[in-house]
Amino acid sequence: MGPIAVILQLLAVMSLTAAKDDGLVRTPPMGWMAWERFRCDVDCKDDPENCISEALFRDMADRLYEDGWKELGYEYVIIDDCWMSMERDKEGRLQPDPVRFPGGIAKLANYVHERGLKLGIYADMGTFTCMGFPGTTLDKIQIDAQTFASWGVDYLKFDGCSSNPLVQMLGYPLMSIALNATGRPIVYSCSWPAYLGGLPPFVNYNLMGEICHLWRNYYDIQDSWDSLQAIVDWFFNNQDEIQPAAGPGRWNDPDMLIIGNFGLSMDESRSQMALWAIMAAPLIMSTDLRHLDNGARAILQNKVAIAINQDPLGIQGRRLLKEKSRIEVYWRPLFQSASALVFLSRRTDMPYRYHTSLGKLHYEEGNYEAYDVFTGTTVKGLNSTTEITLSINPSGVVMWYVYPLRKHNHTTDTETLRLGYKTIMTNVII
Ligand code: GLA
Repeated sequence: MGPIAVILQLLAVMSLTAAKDDGLVRTPPMGWMAWERFRCDVDCKDDPENCISEALFRDMADRLYEDGWKELGYEYVIIDDCWMSMERDKEGRLQPDPVRFPGGIAKLANYVHERGLKLGIYADMGTFTCMGFPGTTLDKIQIDAQTFASWGVDYLKFDGCSSNPLVQMLGYPLMSIALNATGRPIVYSCSWPAYLGGLPPFVNYNLMGEICHLWRNYYDIQDSWDSLQAIVDWFFNNQDEIQPAAGPGRWNDPDMLIIGNFGLSMDESRSQMALWAIMAAPLIMSTDLRHLDNGARAILQNKVAIAINQDPLGIQGRRLLKEKSRIEVYWRPLFQSASALVFLSRRTDMPYRYHTSLGKLHYEEGNYEAYDVFTGTTVKGLNSTTEITLSINPSGVVMWYVYPLRKHNHTTDTETLRLGYKTIMTNVII
């Protein structure tokens, strides 16, 4: 048998043993991650409040716990790059930087767990992390998985800098097996597809869903509307390849929420929340929760947007239309025949009055109501032909949660018929 055949056989066995249908992240993970906002700031002398240190993660755990985030589902506190010491310890284990993490990761995990939250950590399948810290070479996969489990880590972001496609092809499945073998439930986030261009035939999304719980498909998000639009375009231009890969326990990851930072207006922030909900994307914030303005907070804490993101069917949504007017329509099917619609304006002039009907958007005949997610108003008396006029702000969205009103054995008591509506609206308005 040639080397390629050996590798293929190995991978076949791996995918059998490494099935990720293990009950973790049946809905997209939610939480907070350091990278986009705090990067690799390691200068705790000059910038103690913002440097990558145990204090930063304790602060964010405090905020998630005390400011209502946890109740909404934001539970993972995720350390990104730059937490490590440049040297492994005598036993070959990774260790945190002793100055910035004097208590160690196990103690930090404890702190996070005491608040009912979970801890995530970052490592890299390769010689070095993207910022030049020690990588996880093939021979170190097992010891690193064991180390993370022994610290009480609940989530691993496994990056792919300083490696090549062959190393990645071996290493990503091996890490999946090594994590399973620890016996600790650990969510496994793979950056592998992003290093292969994100598309078949280079990326095998069936295999991805078997070994990873979520995966980065594309480039890093930056703090700008341009960056966000490039990501949205890539995901929806390639929706035929990407969208079927997602489902409970297996998620595409278009990267962190940048709401609350410097690059997005309020309208653009609502657009990110709406589109990430349509995409069934992980809702991983990267912002300073200690200094968050109320506008950003309200968007990130919007219960209906979150409920749409967390819909139990876990079907990723699609772009339905790209109009000449630069209005785009996105749609996601939800539990109990409900659905979400997002009308996005790519215009740069003024609010655009968009005319449509549910029928034009392929809805079946019948009676519907729609809840406007960001204004909190309900549009009643809709059927598939009712003319709808929406005013959509430049780089903004209108987001609707649409639910059918069913005719029910001779009764017109619509209260009993709003099943999907009630499910999603629990604790919201009724
Ligand atoms: C890569 C990843 C980012 C971040 C950095 C850290 O660029 O895609 O999300 O983890 O590395 O160095």
